[in-house]
Parts: sequence; C-alpha cells; structure tokens
Amino acid sequence: MPLRLGVNIDHVATLRQARYARDPEGVLVEPDPVGAALIAEQAGADGITAHLREDRRHIQDKDVRRLRQSLGTKLNLEMGNTPGIVAFALRICPHDACLVPENRHEVTTEGGLDCVAHRTELAGTISQLQDTGTTVSLFIDPEPDQIRAAAALRAEFIELHTGAFANATGEIRARELQRLIDGASMARELGLRVNAGHGLNYDNVRELFAIPHLEELNIGHAIVSRGLFTGLAAAVAEMKAICGEYPG
Ligand code: PXP
Repeated sequence: MPLRLGVNIDHVATLRQARYARDPEGVLVEPDPVGAALIAEQAGADGITAHLREDRRHIQDKDVRRLRQSLGTKLNLEMGNTPGIVAFALRICPHDACLVPENRHEVTTEGGLDCVAHRTELAGTISQLQDTGTTVSLFIDPEPDQIRAAAALRAEFIELHTGAFANATGEIRARELQRLIDGASMARELGLRVNAGHGLNYDNVRELFAIPHLEELNIGHAIVSRGLFTGLAAAVAEMKAICGEYPG
C-alpha cells in the first residue's frame, strides 16, 4: 500500500492570525488555510490535517467547518480531549480524529498522549467519535505501555510521535529510530494501524522508511515553509514523490 501524505495546514492559519487575529471577518483575510488545503489536494495530498487548539491560535472553528464541506479527500482533525473541542468534533464528524495532548504554553505538541493515565477519559471520547463514523488515532510516543493501552482502547490507529527522532543526532537518533521501528511492529501485532508525524522534513523523512507498516505521514511545518519559496503545490508534490519511495 503506498504511503499516504496528510498535509497539516495549521501554519497557513498561523500566518493569517499574525495579521488578522483581531479582525477575523475583515475584507482581505489572507492567507486562507482552506484555499491552501485545496491546492495541497490538487498537488497530491491524500488528506488534510488541522489542529483546532483550545486557544484558537491558528485554525478557527470556521476553518474546520469549511474544510469539512470542501475537501475532496479527507479531514483529519487533531484535537485535545477537552469537552468543548470534543463537542465540536462530534458536530463536525471529521473523517479522522487524532487525539493529542495539549498544553497552552507549548509552541507545538510536545509529547505523546498518556493513554495509560487518561485511559478512562479517552475511552469515552473514542467511542463517541467512533459512533459518529470518525476513525480515531492516538498520537503517542513509541512506548510499549502506551501502545498496549491504545490497543486496549480500541483506537483504529496510532500516530507515532517522531519529534524525538527528528530532534536527535548521532547515537540517540539511531536509538529513537529503533524505538519507532519496534513500536510500529508491536502496534501491528496488537491490531493497530500505524501513522507517524511531527518534525518531519525533506531531509529526514527517508530515514523513517526503515519503519514498517506505515500508512500515513502527517507533515506541516516543513511543507508550508518550503511552499513560501517554491509554491505550495510544488512543495506538496515533492513530499508526495518522496512518500512514493516508501518500500511498504
Ligand atoms: N502530527 C501531530 C499529531 C501534530 O501535533 C503535528 C503538529 O501539529 C504534526 C503531525 C505535524 O508536525 P510538523 O508541523 O512538525 O510537520
């Protein structure tokens, strides 16, 4: 099965909010993350990811509604497990939901979800989302306890957090890669399907191809950044072509 590419368009909204946070209904509210999503789809993205954060620092509720209506592929809503966001997701019914930990003070999602400590709260949210037809993924570190807990929670997917690998060098990087390889194998044995994401870019993504059973990568910052120089369509097409090299 070819490796799918989910393009995270949060940082298009970050750029818009830098200028228009106080004037969301202004006449010239650009750049539009939904327009970016449509370009990404045309350039080969297999899905679009957006994170509706509690502080609404980038993606807004309206963006998610418009994405849900206009995407031809699928919407993967990244979300914290908090009552307001869960209620919103249950109304929107995204194709996929990826549950992430969320801390207001972080610049980006820092660690994986703790499925062991939050097992009870997660169980309720996962089954509510699944009842509305949403496929659920849990964003976790490649830790055996977390993988076992994700399987017990009956999520369809895990998304392996690749941030520690992406930030490391030398021996630590090799060790992080091995943890991801082992984590993917264990997840598959437990019946989970496996995605990965965070901190991936045009230089490091091929290294990840040593990980077995991957179905989808979710990549945002690197694609949006490259798009400033090459155009978004070219940036997406290049990453999609790299995904085509995954041996499966
Ligand atoms: N996957 C998850 C669960 C994330 O939280 C993020 C960051 O929003 C990404 C993937 C994309 O990370 P990056 O922007 O570093 O590619």
